[in-house]
Amino acid sequence: LNIAVLVSGGGSNFQAIIDKINDGKLPCKIDCVIADRKCYGLERGSSNGIKTYLLDRKELKKNLSKEIDTILEGKVDLIVLAGFLSILDSEFTKKWSKKIINIHPSLLPKFGGPGMYGIKIHQAVIAAGEKESGCTVHYVDAGVDTGEIIYQEKVSVLENDTPETLQKKVLEIEHRLLPQAIMDIAEGN
Ligand code: GRF
Repeated sequence: LNIAVLVSGGGSNFQAIIDKINDGKLPCKIDCVIADRKCYGLERGSSNGIKTYLLDRKELKKNLSKEIDTILEGKVDLIVLAGFLSILDSEFTKKWSKKIINIHPSLLPKFGGPGMYGIKIHQAVIAAGEKESGCTVHYVDAGVDTGEIIYQEKVSVLENDTPETLQKKVLEIEHRLLPQAIMDIAEGN
C-alpha cells in the first residue's frame, strides 16, 4: 500500500506510522508527506528521508485540494490525515472516496465538526461531564468529521483529568489505532 500523510502540526501520529513501518510491522510505503503550513510534522518527514511538500493554505486558498490532487494522482492508494487541519473540498473527497482516512480525538459523532480541533475538543468533553472519551478513525467524506467510522477506542475521563491530561491519554491510543486502521486497509479487511 502506497500512502501519503497530510499534517498540520507536531506529527506524532505520522511518527507512529513511520515507526511501525520501520519495525517491519506495517506493510506500507510512505510516498510523501504534505503539510498545509510550516510544522514539525514536515521536519519528521525530511529527517526520515520522506519526500515533503509544503502547500501554504493561505496562499493557495481554494486551490489547496486541487494542488494535493495533482501531487498524489496515480501515486498513492491511501491518504492519511494525521492532524491535518484544512478542509478538503467535495470534488476531492468524492474523487478519493474511501481512500482518505482521518483520526479525530473524540468519540464521533460527539465533539466533531467545524471548529472542533485540538485542546478545544478535550475542554468540551470535560465541560460536558463525559465519563468517557477516546478517538475515532473514519473515512473522509464531504462533511467535517462525518465519514463512515472504521475504529473507535475509549478512555475513561477521570475526576481529576484536565483537558491537557485527557489530550495526552487520547493521543497515546491514537498512536496505536491509526497504524492499526492502515494495517487493516492494507490487508484488505
Ligand atoms: C491528534 O489529536 C489528531 O487526532 C488530531 O490532531 C492531533 C494531531 O496530533 N486530528 P499530531 O500532529 O499527530 O501529534
